[in-house]
Order: sequence, then C-alpha cells, then structure tokens
Amino acid sequence: MPDFLLDPDVIFLNHGSFGACPRAVFDEYVRWQRELERQPVRFLQRELPPLLADARQLVGEYLGARSHEIVFVPNPTFAANTIARSLALGPGDEVLLTDHEYGACQFAFDFAAKQKGFRVVQQPITLPVESNEAIVEQFWQGVTPNTKLIFISQITSPTALTLPVAQICQRARDAGILTMVDGAHAPGQIDVNLTEIGADFYTATCHKWMCAPKGSGIFYVREDRQAMIDPLIVGWGWGPNKTFHRENEFIEHHEWLGTYDPAAYLAVPAAIAWQREQVTPEVRQRSQDLVRQAVELASQIEGIERVHPDEFFRQMGLIDVTARCTDTDALKSRLHDEFRIEIPVIRWQDRVFIRVSAHAYTKRKDIEALVQAIQVI
Ligand SMILES: Cc1ncc(COP(=O)(O)O)c(C=O)c1O
Repeated sequence: MPDFLLDPDVIFLNHGSFGACPRAVFDEYVRWQRELERQPVRFLQRELPPLLADARQLVGEYLGARSHEIVFVPNPTFAANTIARSLALGPGDEVLLTDHEYGACQFAFDFAAKQKGFRVVQQPITLPVESNEAIVEQFWQGVTPNTKLIFISQITSPTALTLPVAQICQRARDAGILTMVDGAHAPGQIDVNLTEIGADFYTATCHKWMCAPKGSGIFYVREDRQAMIDPLIVGWGWGPNKTFHRENEFIEHHEWLGTYDPAAYLAVPAAIAWQREQVTPEVRQRSQDLVRQAVELASQIEGIERVHPDEFFRQMGLIDVTARCTDTDALKSRLHDEFRIEIPVIRWQDRVFIRVSAHAYTKRKDIEALVQAIQVI
C-alpha cells in the first residue's frame, strides 16, 4: 500500500476535491523549499528558470504536448480567469458551457461577461447519459452562429461524468469555434494526450489525481493561439525590460507572477515518476472497481439510485440520494462526525449526490463502511 500522509482515523473518500500527496512526493516538495531558503537569490534568479524548463518538459511529455505550450499555474481557476479576461469577446458573442461545470470556473466567465458584454450560455446534458454521440448531439444544440468559445470539463466535478471532449473539440474546430477543456480531474485518472484532444486551451490540476503538492496546475495554450492570451498578472515577464531568460514570450508572460514559492511545481516531476511506478493500470482498475462496488452496493438500499452506466465514470462515482436527503450539509456532517467519513454531498440541479472517490490508498473496508453508514442514516 503506497505511503500517503492521510490521517488514519479518517475514512478518506474525497480525493476528488483536493487530491492527496504521497510521502515520497511531499518530501521532494519540502526538499525544494529548503533548497530555496539556503540561498533565495541564487535559487530564484539563477537556478529556477532551467529547473522549471525541465519540469515543463516532463509534464509536456506526460500530457502529449510541446513544453513551450505549457506553463505552471496554481490551479484551473487561475487558467479559466486568464482565458475569460483575455479573449476578445464582446456584445453579441457567446461562450457555451455545459450545466456540469465547476462553479468557480463558470464564475470567471460570468464575471468577464458582465464587464465585456458577452453572454454565457449553459447547455444541459441530461442524466442519465446514454452514449458519447448523444452527449455531443445534445451539447451541440447550444451552439449558435454567435458561439465563440466552448468551455467544457473532461471529467465533471458535480457529476463525475467523463465527457467526449476530443469529439467536441473536433466539431468546434470544423465550425471555427475556440475550445477550452477543463481537465482538473483528468491527468492521473485517465491518460491525457493534449495533441489528440485538439483543444485550443486546456487546464488541469497536478494536485488532484497526479498527487502532486497543492497549488500545482498546468495551463496549455496551443502555439498558434498564444498571441491571443494576456497574462492575468502583469509582472517582469511582460514589457520591454525582460530580466529573465525564458524560452519564449508565452512562458515569460504567464509563469513569473512576482515572488512565489515554486516548490510545488518543481515536485511535479516526482509526482509523475511516482504515478508511473505506483499507479499501474492494475492499481487504477482496482480503484475503479472499488468505486463501482460502492455505487452498486449503495444502490441496493431502498430509495437510492445509480446515476451513470459504469463506462462514464472512473475513480469517482455517484450515489444518488435525492429521495432520502433534504439537507446536504446535515448529511455531510453526519457522515463525517458520526462515521469519520470524509466525502462530498453535492446538490446539482434538483438532485443530491454523494461523490465517492478511490485511489491507491482506498480499501474495500472503507467502501463497506460508507455503504453501511448510508444504510444507517
Ligand atoms: C472540474 C473542476 N474544474 C476546476 C476546479 C478548480 O480547481 P482549483 O480550485 O484547483 O482551481 C475543480 C476543483 O475541484 C474542478 O473539479
């Protein structure tokens, strides 16, 4: 069993919210912080640029992208804000989202829409989904001649649904619509190849399913789209007096945001190495099987339903408790306080889901404890 730092007194079934970092990767993160503090000027001014370039190179290889198309950012919220604020959108233009998007990222577009006058349009994807083709067709009903950007999750947060983003990006490209894929839950949970997905923009966390330290994310902008994107924070990397010797303008503009702690980014290569060694296809399959068992066993309880067919979820699954739960906060608190289970209870539309996550540290007895708790409650 891989060595995580999780509290052994808690049944942790919420990897999806913030991830969890294995001891080996966390040690590497602390090692970089110590390196920095030994000689901050040498580290931040001279050693950091090539270290980040090496880390970017590895992430690029891991995600099937060229390293100059990727910058480290703290998280996908940051990347969504960067896109929403820099694209030249205005009155008459539409940004199309599904109704399964992560709230903070949707807010980034709502905020920019208020300032610039474009519209944010939410196209429903009805549950239960039936096939990838049906998802694409239903989503495409939201496209109009005014649609300029599609923003869509690869794996959705409230509904743990894997969406056919490559098909949607292909169709958008044919229609001349830009695409941004929110892959917050994808790398580490599924194999990601950014070239094959074909999005113009992509963001992901490294701290969720790649198990890197918190505050490590990536922002991908395809080479031919980089001139469209302004830095969210203007600093030394912009302007005539560039002082840092970076590979190119995109990286200069977006990666140096003033003094910060880059240790989480520098630990991403260790997280990738850890993934390759520890999260074998068997380990991923075992986690998926545990999620499927949780969904299956819970759905045998009266009044509790399944939501998706198995092929639409991976290491996160949904238990539909709509018929048995009116107060989501109370249910979450009871699961935590009485049963020591950390798990999200999510209200989506008029439904209530318990979203169960499994990773290499999850045990069959954790799943049994969850099902038993739901039964008792
Ligand atoms: C689909 C999705 N997008 C974006 C985010 C935002 O992540 P962060 O808070 O790291 O920016 C999350 C976080 O859970 C998410 O689930």
